[in-house]
Amino acid sequence: MDHQQRAGLRRRRAARIAETLARVRVLDPGTAAAPAHLAAIKTEMIKLAGCGLFDLADFPPTADGGDVTYLLHHDPDGRFGLYLMCGRHCAPVPPHDHKTWAVIAGIRGVETNTLYRREGGLDGDEETVSPRAEIAVTPGRAIALGPCDVHTIRFDGGAQVTATLHLYGRALDRITERVKFTAGGVLDGTYRTRAEDCVLAPQI
Ligand SMILES: [Fe+2]
Repeated sequence: MDHQQRAGLRRRRAARIAETLARVRVLDPGTAAAPAHLAAIKTEMIKLAGCGLFDLADFPPTADGGDVTYLLHHDPDGRFGLYLMCGRHCAPVPPHDHKTWAVIAGIRGVETNTLYRREGGLDGDEETVSPRAEIAVTPGRAIALGPCDVHTIRFDGGAQVTATLHLYGRALDRITERVKFTAGGVLDGTYRTRAEDCVLAPQI
């Protein structure tokens, strides 16, 4: 692909993202999306992830196949965070929540999401989580999570690079009140995604 073709692909990608987010804005006029709206946002994200405009040349993992999080978009006021995660393997992610809705859609490979059940946390009782389901996010598939849902992810694509789109109701680096748990399910303080943990997606 020459320079001009690459610029054309990036222009088409930027347009597809803007069109998708315009429809998502209608579905979620605040920061809390209703379940029916989340289902519609899932459909939008499956279409965006399958548009063929997120290639490895623009979104490579690290040299040794480690995970990279690319920032594709967030609104100036911190609403809507759209990220692309990719890698052959992924650094361990503790179980965590997001304090906003999340939709994850597969581009290539396999991102396995482990979902957790939350228990306790009332009357001074320490909150714990335990695994309740595993869902593989692959091309053509997506999952939606509510603000309190707890999950972890891992990449299971083997030698293949896994790539997924993650859309959140708010930009993750603006959310300070998220919580994480140990691998054993014990509450383990707050969870932050820092702006410097993300790589800005290639621009036109
Ligand atoms: Fe997450």
